[in-house]
Amino acid sequence: MSSRRLAVAVTTALLLAVGATACESGNSGGSASGGKIALLLPESQTTRYEQHDRPLFEAKVKELCANCEIIYSNAQQDQSRQQQQAEAALNNGAQVLVLDPVDGAAAATIVSLAKSKNVPVISYDRLIQNAPVDYYISFDNERVGQLQGETLVNRLKELGKTSGDIVMINGSPTDNNAKLFNKGAHSALDTSGFKTVPTPDFFTPEWKPENAQKFMEGQIAQLGKDGFVGVYAANDGTAGGAISAMRAAGITPVPPTTGQDAELAAIQRIVGGDQYMTVYKAFKPEADKAAEVAVALLKGEKPSTDRTVNNGATEVPSFLLEPQSVTKDNVKQTVVADKLYTIEQICTSAYAAACKAAGLT
Ligand code: GAL
Repeated sequence: MSSRRLAVAVTTALLLAVGATACESGNSGGSASGGKIALLLPESQTTRYEQHDRPLFEAKVKELCANCEIIYSNAQQDQSRQQQQAEAALNNGAQVLVLDPVDGAAAATIVSLAKSKNVPVISYDRLIQNAPVDYYISFDNERVGQLQGETLVNRLKELGKTSGDIVMINGSPTDNNAKLFNKGAHSALDTSGFKTVPTPDFFTPEWKPENAQKFMEGQIAQLGKDGFVGVYAANDGTAGGAISAMRAAGITPVPPTTGQDAELAAIQRIVGGDQYMTVYKAFKPEADKAAEVAVALLKGEKPSTDRTVNNGATEVPSFLLEPQSVTKDNVKQTVVADKLYTIEQICTSAYAAACKAAGLT
């Protein structure tokens, strides 16, 4: 082999060796041509996680970093399982954690473990409390609650009501978002002339629709079928549970009921008249932002943000997106316009007449 060709061969081998090392150690400013990102989601009873968050996140990472590997796990609402999943991901070489915690307080343990391995943590959708989190990406969740409260009050006033009880069904007590939704909702309801019941506020264990249904059955037994004028439900899952309880009790029409997440079943309930509103949080910009920040961190970059949120331990650099209220009147301009669902998906035979009446054609 000529000396020139030998020289080229040696140089190429060297370059390959250097390149490989850079990818492997993503935290040292390596090019994002490779690296391991762990995505840890909390549950799958709520449709957003497997139908939107995960596929959108994976697609964006692929677009930004073809050779990046995603280590995905879903905790099925079990905090100790999420702890194990995070440990496994770190042992498996995860260089960035994108964590949507089952329990925002308990997840601090995962953050300190990650930190001990110099692995940055992105708090995805729900804020991890009292821990040195690197980024927080979510929606303005107090605004979510405010929109739910305002839309409900406007509807009740439209129906000629000025006072009465609103049954309040909050989210999971271990989810910081549930506290923010609750705070926002109270800011709209407490000065509205309507009263939220029971006191103290009820928080739905594990966000489980069946827990919300059982609670609503108890409220109906206590208050009577026409002892309340509306229902504040923190998300579509809990709204579905409450509506099933009201339907089973023979309450028709169902009083105005809120929701969140723009699940397909909820959009159909809204068109059909059983649920009054939901909150649409465009999942794509949230998942895209998390992917962008994760890949940037792999490259050793620190994206700047225009705000921070204090999580009890530090001012966390944050990206917060704007939610939208959805009723029968703007389904087309929101979830259909954003291609979350087609009119065909919403207007199945059971909803065809209601869709026509709502101008959803
Ligand atoms: C919240 C999330 C909501 C919701 C709920 C249940 O943290 O922001 O979209 O559905 O969890 O998983």
